[in-house]
Amino acid sequence: MAAREHDMIEPGDEPMSNLSANPYFGDIAAARLSRRGVLAGSLGAALAGFIGAGAAPRGATARPAEGPSLGFRAVPVSEADTVVVPEGYAVQVLIPWGTPITGDMPAWRPDNTGAEQAMQVGMHHDGMHFFPIEGQDPHRGSSEDGLLVVNHEYIEPRFLHAAAAERPLGTDEVPAGEDGRDPDQVLKELNAHGISVVRIRKGADGRWAVVPDPRNRRITGLTEMEIAGPVRGSPFVRTRYSPDGTRVRGTLNNCAHGVTPWNTYLAAEENWAGYFRNGDQQDQKPDLPREHARYGVRTGRSRYRWEEARGGEDAFRRFDASRTGADAAEDYRNEPNAFGWMVEIDPFDPRSRPVKRTALGRFAHEGVIFAPAREGRPVVAYSGDDARFEYIYKFVSARPYQRATASGALLDEGTLYVARFHPDGSGEWLPLVQGVGPLTPANGFRSQAEVLVNTRAAADLLGATKMDRPEWGAVDPRDGRVYFTLTNNTRRTPEQAEGPNPRAQNRFGQIVRWREADDDHAATRFTWDLFVIAGPQEDSRDANGAPLTAENIFACPDGLWFDADSRLWIQTDIGEAEQNRGPLAPFGNNQMLCANPYTGEIRRFLTGPVGQEITGVVTTPDQRTMFVNVQHPGATTTAEDFAAGRLVSRWPDGQGVPRSATLVITRQDGGVIGA
Ligand code: FEO
Ligand code: CA
Ligand code: CA
Repeated sequence: MAAREHDMIEPGDEPMSNLSANPYFGDIAAARLSRRGVLAGSLGAALAGFIGAGAAPRGATARPAEGPSLGFRAVPVSEADTVVVPEGYAVQVLIPWGTPITGDMPAWRPDNTGAEQAMQVGMHHDGMHFFPIEGQDPHRGSSEDGLLVVNHEYIEPRFLHAAAAERPLGTDEVPAGEDGRDPDQVLKELNAHGISVVRIRKGADGRWAVVPDPRNRRITGLTEMEIAGPVRGSPFVRTRYSPDGTRVRGTLNNCAHGVTPWNTYLAAEENWAGYFRNGDQQDQKPDLPREHARYGVRTGRSRYRWEEARGGEDAFRRFDASRTGADAAEDYRNEPNAFGWMVEIDPFDPRSRPVKRTALGRFAHEGVIFAPAREGRPVVAYSGDDARFEYIYKFVSARPYQRATASGALLDEGTLYVARFHPDGSGEWLPLVQGVGPLTPANGFRSQAEVLVNTRAAADLLGATKMDRPEWGAVDPRDGRVYFTLTNNTRRTPEQAEGPNPRAQNRFGQIVRWREADDDHAATRFTWDLFVIAGPQEDSRDANGAPLTAENIFACPDGLWFDADSRLWIQTDIGEAEQNRGPLAPFGNNQMLCANPYTGEIRRFLTGPVGQEITGVVTTPDQRTMFVNVQHPGATTTAEDFAAGRLVSRWPDGQGVPRSATLVITRQDGGVIGA
């Protein structure tokens, strides 16, 4: 692909890099509709044929609608710079970016140093989990004391360095001099990434607060990590830092997460590729290996230009993956290959080294969702690759789950599958196993490590189905169906934009769901339908085939989570470029909705401040406290407005720069959230 295309990044999405000829989800939905003879000009007729085809739970067709209660009144769409929740609910703001949690506990100031940032909560909160302080059982334990583990997806340099900014900066620009970048700014940026582990406790007044605790920890873009699974020790991850290919420094762009059945946390590495550059050329053209090119490693400057830090420190220079040595162990040509994985963290052991679990594949991992573990059965985890036309995967462990001995080692051996959706509502899981099917040495796959490092290329060869940007997944605890958000797919080429399907230029997104054959998550076949087609009233359908209403219109579903009662929580991320504008204007600021998956009812529960996305949701075990993240408030501020001091949001402080933060949501009557 041309260098220019690699270097164009849209907010929340990687540059499109899937050039394979595989079908994509829109084609399949259209084919399924055409086959049924219902694909007419109107969306209503078109969607009635396949939406909600499996809405009723198994064996429940004769019974009245059922499912969890939604006991709150919907809130309207909002463009206000504040958080709105239903009547009877209260909101507290907790751990905004910069909150001191460990070490010297330095107070937040706009001009904190890079070292101070490593002792404070990072920027841009995303996926998150509440671990009750007892630590043994993910479903039981304290609802008033626990470890909150929060991902920090990316940074906004203009707010991170507000005190130092000398000129107007756009969202993704860095303040850089002619002679390179300020190394302390680079350090601060790396330390604002990663994960925060922070003990929080509910006080007598009902408010939650940070508790100093030896388990409080920052994991950053510099923390040493172990590489595990089939890629460990392979030539693909040999670097100057780790000549034997077993270690790497840091995790980046941690979007959503997963919680293992043995109560550890997995942080996803999503849009990591743009953090690297590779300037290798042949005949004056970019010459990138497929394990860089297929993921969008840049050929010009990297996203934050860390490799340009003055002083040439090795930890910063490594973001230039160009060949400079005679051998892979002498340079950082392989550094990008150590990213794109799921990273396991034990929040209860602050000395533990995070582990990159390579058997789960390498792509733009949005997150990971585990099926409920069953004694003696394999561990199963689903994960989406969030970029246009990428795929949905699942991992099935080779060894069975045994509660007494289960550990992360279960994730090092197993089969990674990629999904193929058939037009008739069925689907299959295709194994990404070296030597099976087309994954042969003749086709460039000589080992399982090579398959995994090139997960996308392997999935291309298998004929996986190209999706509309898979984001979060969730498994219904009641009936085991798997739900995934497909956030949008505004395809760029005129040819693709002229498709006959009214959703061909899919700005609004949808939620797909499937049931594994025999309700066995390790099965290789499934049946699917669409739960909801998001959009404005005139261009949307709920699970009953009815248009969405003022109570629930939404666009760009992203975060997704089932609570213990099977309420489905849906969070939106309309990107900064389109939020509150044009066709996305009717949806206002990003929001969170709550759905009953059995009746198809959806109701808006929360709206956030200006410019942010709502992402990350979990409750305490008693479901009476909910944590939700507000990421990148004020991101819609233009460079000109930023220069003039006109910020569209000053949430949550009401002054200074806007800061990502966690919301603590409770009911004034102490009841279950949403019920
Ligand atoms: Fe990090 Fe796909 O959102
Ligand atoms: Ca997301
Ligand atoms: Ca998104």
